[in-house]
Amino acid sequence: MHGIVFAELHKYAETKHGAGTWHQLLTRAGLGNKLYFPVQEYPDSEIASLVRAASEMTGQPTLALLEDFGQFIVPSLLRMYSHLLKPGWKTIDVIEHTEGTVHTVVRVQNPGAKPPQLMSQRLSNNEVLMVYDSPRRMCALAIGIAKGLALHYGEHIVIREAICMHRGANRCEILFRTIA
Ligand code: HEM
Repeated sequence: MHGIVFAELHKYAETKHGAGTWHQLLTRAGLGNKLYFPVQEYPDSEIASLVRAASEMTGQPTLALLEDFGQFIVPSLLRMYSHLLKPGWKTIDVIEHTEGTVHTVVRVQNPGAKPPQLMSQRLSNNEVLMVYDSPRRMCALAIGIAKGLALHYGEHIVIREAICMHRGANRCEILFRTIA
């Protein structure tokens, strides 16, 4: 997983639970004093251990925590990559075009980074269906990112995950719909 995600998790932990939380999290996850640089790749197992440790510390289920984290990182993602988003786009457009724009550029600019291959189908002006099958099984992060995007664009979003890898399926199918 890319270092940006670890740097953002650090920021998230300390913003939500105060200074020193990140160190406690590293210790609980068995990662000692490990440093994460936002230009490098790190094992997926480490993000999984950190999320598990955060869930144990807060009592929040891992999927709820990942979703909250996804919402939290949106302002940073938009700051870093806003040049790739068309000015007229809103939540559903960004979700539809993430694969063709942002994640593709992330792959080229950060050799080793493996953002998920998101397959999106635009169903109508305000609806997009996304198929997600990353072995990292972080569909909750996608849901959180969508909620963060809606917050950013001042839209109301309804999300239905009819099929999910966490319920035994081989992929997740997530329907995003904004309502005026
Ligand atoms: C401005 C928009 C976005 C930026 C800059 C961005 C960037 C990134 C980056 C840097 C990673 C880490 C990749 C790695 O470590 O290999 C990532 C992962 C991820 N992104 Fe995005 N992303 C954006 C939008 C989205 C959207 C709209 C979704 C879905 C609704 C999404 C879903 C995910 C998920 C679920 C992961 C976790 C890794 C995995 O599942 O394999 N992203 N993204």
